[in-house]
Amino acid sequence: MKNCLSMNKVVCLLAAGIFCGGVLDMVAQPELIPKRDEQYRPQLHFSPLRGWNNDPNGLVWLDGEYHLYYQYNPNENKWGPMHWGHAVSRDLIHWEDLPIALYPDKLGTIFSGSAVVDWNNTAGFGEGVIVAIYTSAGEKQTQSIAYSTDKGRTFTKYEGNPVIPNPGINDFRDPKVFWHEDSEQWVMSLATGSTISFYGSPNLKQWEKLSEFGEGIGSHSGVWECPDLFPLVLDKEKKWVLLVSNGGTPNGGTATQYFVGKFDGREFCADPAPYPLWLDSGRDNYASVTWSDEPNGRRLVIGWMSNWDYANQVPSQVWRGGFTLPRELTLTRHPDGHALLNTVPAKEILSYAGRASATLKKNLAPNESIGAFSEAKTGPWMAKVKLKMPEKGICDLVLSNNQSEQCVLRVNADKGILETDRSRSGKINFHGGFVSGSKGLLYMDEDEVNLTVFVDSASVEMFVENGVSPQTTILYPKLPYDYLKILNFSDSDKRINVKAEIYPLESIWKCKCK
Ligand code: FRU
Repeated sequence: MKNCLSMNKVVCLLAAGIFCGGVLDMVAQPELIPKRDEQYRPQLHFSPLRGWNNDPNGLVWLDGEYHLYYQYNPNENKWGPMHWGHAVSRDLIHWEDLPIALYPDKLGTIFSGSAVVDWNNTAGFGEGVIVAIYTSAGEKQTQSIAYSTDKGRTFTKYEGNPVIPNPGINDFRDPKVFWHEDSEQWVMSLATGSTISFYGSPNLKQWEKLSEFGEGIGSHSGVWECPDLFPLVLDKEKKWVLLVSNGGTPNGGTATQYFVGKFDGREFCADPAPYPLWLDSGRDNYASVTWSDEPNGRRLVIGWMSNWDYANQVPSQVWRGGFTLPRELTLTRHPDGHALLNTVPAKEILSYAGRASATLKKNLAPNESIGAFSEAKTGPWMAKVKLKMPEKGICDLVLSNNQSEQCVLRVNADKGILETDRSRSGKINFHGGFVSGSKGLLYMDEDEVNLTVFVDSASVEMFVENGVSPQTTILYPKLPYDYLKILNFSDSDKRINVKAEIYPLESIWKCKCK
């Protein structure tokens, strides 16, 4: 099968053909790689050089490298015949492009899936090899596997594919696999229409269906996709978190919901909570899944920074897509007692920030504001903002440029919500649904709200402490935002005490450090 893969490449190169065109050449010859400095090109986030990407796939850590495979169409900046593109990072900040890892074959194109390190050679492909488990999207969707003995660079497809045939349903995809210690088996979460099915296997080749979860719980406004089941600890108790992505969500289009509960090696059972709970209440974080084998035991997650509603129309030119910042998930408790996911940026990104270029401090009366430039020139930046709101009120964080374009992040402590308004953010007319922003719940810890905001050329990510979902938003301003204004928008006498720091960040494509 290895030969088959290189044959594939040869055929593609000769034919400049249907599946890889010139992109493989670009990736293979670094001197031809164009700078990532086009308009709207993310400077703090990974996005492929050209072509189209959607979901992150095969997230796995091995020998110092975080692998990011992804749904990739190298031929056009639109969704099309899916491959697995590939990039690696040693620090979760800088990324290196690698050649396409999986090409379509006679079983179909390559849809989403996961990767594991088979430390005990359960599959017989070798000890410590990376095994990718993915959906073969042919006439029917089936699950297949492939293995890599060269640190994830090239894959050999298993000759016994598919390892799970289609049971007669249309939507049967996105296998996410992990080793379940207690039941000593591989467990797969698989999206099966409007539910998640769990399968078990001793060797990644033979799979038995264990159970099905999802009927009558959570959001079902679109088919369920891209599940991920993993453990986290809350108050010394092991809990299981299930991520599920789907469409038709409250803010419009696609987003990722989650459940927290128990898993006994066969069945997942959700604890009581006011489901649906959303991993991110912004409009542009879909198909979020987590890394396997993370060396520090962290649960790191990354999402596709877009929305199926308009992903095929966004105005970037040579590429469409990109990913959120890598984030860490932990569990915390809502004041009512149920568990909530807490999302913070991966600590690598926080320490990349270095020194603050400006500090703002003021006790703001209604209508009063304070502001500063990022000093980042065209680069990305981060703002850390602490708001003391003892009388509650409304506080706006206005991110803007000198073209009168702006994105407003609103902390509405009166209503207990957090909002992103991108209606004047720049180019918005490429799709009717893009103009609307997002709303999410804000649980205030005492009187204080702590926000960390990352501003890149075409995105804003707002993180809040203590179980409040982040809000991830893409936008297309003429020039990157370089100014932050903090405005007390309260309509009565409510004062807001502000402390904010602005940190310019270097473009990850300019810095040579690894
Ligand atoms: C989610 C998804 C997956 C599928 C992939 C195809 O965005 O629809 O369910 O595997 O994209 O590209």
